[in-house]
Amino acid sequence: MSAPRHQPSDEPVYRESAPVVRVSALRGGHCRLRLGAPSIAASIRPGQFVNVGPPGDSTLLRRPFGVYQTLDRTDIELLFKVVGKGTAALAEVSPGDELDIIGPLGNGFDLSEDFAETAVLVAGGFGVAPLYALAQALREKGSQTYLFVGTEEDVPVETSDSSMQLSFVDPDVKITLTDFEELGAVARVASMRHRPGFFHGLASELLERFLHHAGSGCNARVYACGPWAMLKRTAGIAAEYNLTCEVLLEERMGCGIGACMSCAVRLKGENGEPVYARACVEGPVFDAAIVDWDAK
Ligand SMILES: Cc1cc2nc3c(=O)[nH]c(=O)nc-3n(C[C@H](O)[C@H](O)[C@H](O)COP(=O)(O)OP(=O)(O)OC[C@H]3O[C@@H](n4cnc5c(N)ncnc54)[C@H](O)[C@@H]3O)c2cc1C
Ligand code: FES
Repeated sequence: MSAPRHQPSDEPVYRESAPVVRVSALRGGHCRLRLGAPSIAASIRPGQFVNVGPPGDSTLLRRPFGVYQTLDRTDIELLFKVVGKGTAALAEVSPGDELDIIGPLGNGFDLSEDFAETAVLVAGGFGVAPLYALAQALREKGSQTYLFVGTEEDVPVETSDSSMQLSFVDPDVKITLTDFEELGAVARVASMRHRPGFFHGLASELLERFLHHAGSGCNARVYACGPWAMLKRTAGIAAEYNLTCEVLLEERMGCGIGACMSCAVRLKGENGEPVYARACVEGPVFDAAIVDWDAK
């Protein structure tokens, strides 16, 4: 097995029968699901995930999800997109139904080190879901947070016109993610289509513009979650600027607990030979510098 940046967590993992507290359908086939899961809510850290058993016999395997936020230290809220059988079944649950969930799983973002004053979060589509809890933790650490989201679909969370001016984009690029801006984070949304208020281009181009504008003295740390191509580009830009970048890899998972190897990620070994790590145990967060970006 590899020598990943983070070690597998030796913290307790809980199995809870979690009552559905609230479920709301959002635009673009997204869904917000609040579950009562006190043991998990009290211990989960940003970037860790839960493995959720969809209701009834809809799927054999559990499905992995990051946690958007914890509420009242007793509940967790998931934000997910309906893409297949498991997520379709989850979107149909009602308050009072109970879901069998396991967590916290995985390593989470590295929040133990000294913090860069500036944190830049880059997300593709529903990759934004696990980043809100991170933005909350970064605010507590005193980092100034920027979020750049790329999507060709509906933005999964509430948007509004930003009250903050940015010098590296045109003033009419003003759509922000309301939850993030309320935390004091600066957010913008990118799309390859011409959409009013959006940046025309890729989220990684927003990162590039930001870093170029900030100059060589910028001591930022980069965090990203989304499709492989976006992560690869983001990792490349962070490397050009000599910045630490952590990526959350949403690999397809079987067991979610390290037993089946279906989530293996190819990393660059010390001597150049490939080594493999399990995204569910050694990940899902990896130092972008050790991921073999040519593996896919
Ligand atoms: C650590 C982790 C955290 C995640 N967090 C979130 C989250 O917060 N919100 C969210 O919406 N999704 C998240 N995902 C992705 C989510 O687990 C999948 O979308 C879900 O398992 C699909 O289940 P399904 O039965 O509906 O789809 P399936 O029928 O299994 O697959 C339908 C389609 O979805 C694709 N798919 C399946 N699994 C994944 C995956 N892991 N990543 C990307 N595409 C996939 C398949 O390739 C296929 O095209 C996360 C995945 C991981 C590993
Ligand atoms: S999903 Fe089975 S080892 Fe990771």
